[in-house]
Amino acid sequence: MKILITGGAGYIGSVLTEKLLNKNYKVTVIDNFMFSQKSLNHLMHNNNLKVENNDIRNTYNFKTLINKNDVIIPLAAYVGAPLCLKDPVNAHQVNFESNKYLLKQISNSQLIIMPTTNSGYGKGDKNGFCDESSKLNPLSKYAKDKVEIEKILMERENSVSFRLATVFGSSPRMRFDLLVNDFVYKAYFDKYIVLFESNFRRNYIHVKDVCNAIEMCLEKTNKFKGEIFNVGLSSANLTKLELANKIKEYIKDFVIIQENFTKDTDQRDYLVSNKKIEKLGFKPMFSLDDGIKEISKLLITFRRFTDGNV
Ligand SMILES: NC(=O)c1ccc[n+]([C@@H]2O[C@H](COP(=O)([O-])OP(=O)(O)OC[C@H]3O[C@@H](n4cnc5c(N)ncnc54)[C@H](O)[C@@H]3O)[C@@H](O)[C@H]2O)c1
Repeated sequence: MKILITGGAGYIGSVLTEKLLNKNYKVTVIDNFMFSQKSLNHLMHNNNLKVENNDIRNTYNFKTLINKNDVIIPLAAYVGAPLCLKDPVNAHQVNFESNKYLLKQISNSQLIIMPTTNSGYGKGDKNGFCDESSKLNPLSKYAKDKVEIEKILMERENSVSFRLATVFGSSPRMRFDLLVNDFVYKAYFDKYIVLFESNFRRNYIHVKDVCNAIEMCLEKTNKFKGEIFNVGLSSANLTKLELANKIKEYIKDFVIIQENFTKDTDQRDYLVSNKKIEKLGFKPMFSLDDGIKEISKLLITFRRFTDGNV
């Protein structure tokens, strides 16, 4: 099976590319390496890997790649509300227009597995509960584009949407702007954190478990296709304060201050149900504690991160 991963050199993409190569899939990555990341260097020896250093907005090239593959996993994006706010034009082109182009070009027989986000749930129902049928209420441009592209994606049968919780864990293209990774970084280097909306609940998932869910979807496509799934840790629907306290169990001199100095753009405060994917047999392998220990180990080992590249 030939798989095209857009953004395959990214935080999730570089872990996924390695995993799929290890499973003997033929993988093509298109990525513009916008962070100068070296995240695929260790995989260049593999003859089943092709890498295109290119922008997905180069449609002539993108179309050729789309036509050559059986499965497309679109990960290329301007990720997160802050980056989209900083560069809204490029963010909309990549997050929405390019994926719309992909969905126009693709044939019915080609499968798309797209990670979207559970940021679109906003506050959930009156108890904060959300499952895949819950009303969406995206507030940031990032979440709005994700929700709009998911609607178009699900108009075709051979599509799967994974609404990911906030991802954590280490990757060859490291991200410290993600909640768990960021809190551990602050605990380790700053020794304190100032929390806003500290009682807002969020859901989390390890980067390797995201890749496990994608692999499972490739292996049991008939059970997944045409469906939307939340992908998160059911054991970790924690408030930001609970998360910070959990980190404090490992980094004892971490000082937690609560102050409402700003607001989350998407007002994410929800209790996410992951039952739908769990019913298909998906079982996360990594807990939040595993992730906290892993990130601490990474920080202790390297001491400083200046450019996000390990
Ligand atoms: N990490 C999370 O917590 C999370 C949660 C929900 C959804 N997602 C989604 O998962 C996907 C991957 O996210 P990530 O965390 O790996 O982020 P990332 O920023 O590490 O990865 C994005 C990749 O896309 C590449 N890219 C950006 N613009 C491009 C362009 N125009 N052409 C080619 N390549 C381009 C970047 O170089 C990068 O390698 C995104 O679609 C994101 O919205 C991530």
